Amino acid sequence: MPFERVKTGIPGFDELVAGGLPRGYCYTVTGGPGSGKTTFALQFIYNGVTKYGENGVYLTFDEPPQSIRSSALSFGMNFKELEEARKLVIVDASPIRLDVGRYVARSPAMLGLPSFNINTVLSTVHTVAKEIDAKRVVVDSITSLLVQYSDPFIVRKETLSLIRSLSEAGDYTSILLSETAEGDERAYFKTEMFLVNGVILLHNIRQREERIRAIEILKMRGVKHSTRMHPFRITEKGIIVYPEEMVFSR
Ligand SMILES: Nc1ncnc2c1ncn2[C@@H]1O[C@H](COP(=O)(O)OP(=O)(O)OP(=O)(O)O)[C@@H](O)[C@H]1O
Ligand SMILES: [Mg+2]
Repeated sequence: MPFERVKTGIPGFDELVAGGLPRGYCYTVTGGPGSGKTTFALQFIYNGVTKYGENGVYLTFDEPPQSIRSSALSFGMNFKELEEARKLVIVDASPIRLDVGRYVARSPAMLGLPSFNINTVLSTVHTVAKEIDAKRVVVDSITSLLVQYSDPFIVRKETLSLIRSLSEAGDYTSILLSETAEGDERAYFKTEMFLVNGVILLHNIRQREERIRAIEILKMRGVKHSTRMHPFRITEKGIIVYPEEMVFSR
């Protein structure tokens, strides 16, 4: 049986993975600072609701919900509107709370508190997801979640339990954002990259005096995906991938 596909709706991306992400699994989008991870996730969630009728949950650890909304709005995506229609919920587990929005689900667990517990955060996500019948979930970012553990065994155990919980609890397709240093190949050996169904790399490569953005599918289980880097741009509408173009001119 071929997999049912979940389209990201990001121009030029879905054709790199033969039409979209296989439904019901967990994926990692990874890259350096400012590489476009959050932008990718915002488009995945926003297009889900507006183009494909799939509601979404955005779990944020790093930025307060207000900052997520502003970023989205800078790309022309009105998150507030979708939140008011109960098609999107931002779950706030960020230590900085500037937000008093009615539609933010506050996780009882906040990053950095001694009481922080991954299961408490996840149960908030599942409850909310069930309430709005969400089909897409974003975790921004898994790095901030895992940084609190120093023991590699615990990191693996917690990562696995997160991925299991996301792929087994409902029929959502989820994206975990993960931070890596550009050009550091060792970064691809992080636990989450082995455990998820697919890994998408966002590069920001320096070439002489400029940086070039490129996207690459490192793995996608069961999919005949593209195996090369493709240039992309972050525009006022978000990420646009150019599947036919080369990153470096020969
Ligand atoms: N409206 C816009 N038009 C063009 N480029 C933009 C726009 N808004 C943001 N950018 C670019 O996108 C980058 C931010 O992307 P994004 O926040 O998705 O990256 P990130 O990988 O999530 O970063 P972080 O590691 O900080 O979480 C900015 O540094 C900027 O270069
Ligand atoms: Mg980000």
